[in-house]
Amino acid sequence: MKWTSSLAGLVSLFTLVTAQSDSEPFVDADTGITFQSSTNSEGVTYRLALPADASADKPYDVILQVIAPVELGWVGWAWGGVMTYNPLTVVWANGKDVVYTSRQALGYYTPVQYEDAKYTVLKGTGVNETHFKFTALCSGCVSWPDFDGNLATLDGTSQVNFAYAYSTTPVEDPSTGESGFSIHDSVGHWTHDLGAARSDKFSSWVAANSGTNSTLRRRLRVGRYGY
Ligand code: HEM
Ligand SMILES: *[C@@H]1O[C@H](CO)[C@@H](O)[C@H](O)[C@H]1NC(C)=O
Ligand SMILES: *[C@@H]1O[C@H](CO)[C@@H](O)[C@H](O)[C@H]1NC(C)=O
Repeated sequence: MKWTSSLAGLVSLFTLVTAQSDSEPFVDADTGITFQSSTNSEGVTYRLALPADASADKPYDVILQVIAPVELGWVGWAWGGVMTYNPLTVVWANGKDVVYTSRQALGYYTPVQYEDAKYTVLKGTGVNETHFKFTALCSGCVSWPDFDGNLATLDGTSQVNFAYAYSTTPVEDPSTGESGFSIHDSVGHWTHDLGAARSDKFSSWVAANSGTNSTLRRRLRVGRYGY
């Protein structure tokens, strides 16, 4: 009997621990999108919105948003929670424009271009006096081949570990997503609640914020992928 009750205690403790998340709901005024949002100790914010049926069963698109102080040289998002062999999103400001690049690290050196994640820049992308803000639809950010070569997809019903990295050193050529850049000043991890990021408004958010608008297009100068 004793064993049963302590096992039950252990199970509920485990549930409690795994239920913790560093993200919370946030309605972004620029896009009208309700994101799950997480801001780290460096003042960099990472946000996600997912389709209502997102799960581990098949790849799905996501809307991501990154907001960072303009002083930073670049900020990164590692979708697998580690540096190597997973999609990396790296973003920086170039004057009034936001530049992004899709990368993958093959070792602990400058990540190479990664073509299996495609980005479509959305409204809610720009630079002001204090911050740069990047909002995009990403196809391929949440699925990538595991070490056996099988495509694995982040469980969209669940809580997931991501990693961030940032540098205060500017990239070599801020005008292009093909730029080189040097090592981070800091890296860290956070837990994002993907289940709570899901919404049946996903498609309408994409449509309402898509850059078919020539004003929007002229304002953006972004990396070579997807736009
Ligand atoms: C020129 C670019 C980069 C260089 C030279 C570099 C180098 C390194 C090195 C040497 C480490 C190991 C530190 C240790 O001893 O623990 C490390 C760790 C790490 N890096 Fe990078 N890095 C670069 C870019 C990035 C980017 C763009 C990201 C994410 C978007 C990133 C994410 C991480 C993370 C999460 C770790 C922690 C350990 C791990 O997950 O493997 N790095 N990096
Ligand atoms: C600049 O952008 C940041 C991030 O979106 C926002 O919090 C801040 O209010 C903006 N500042 C001004 C002056 O609009
Ligand atoms: C186009 O985008 C600009 C900048 O976001 C916005 O001010 C304008 O209202 C948009 N026009 C249309 C027709 O959506």
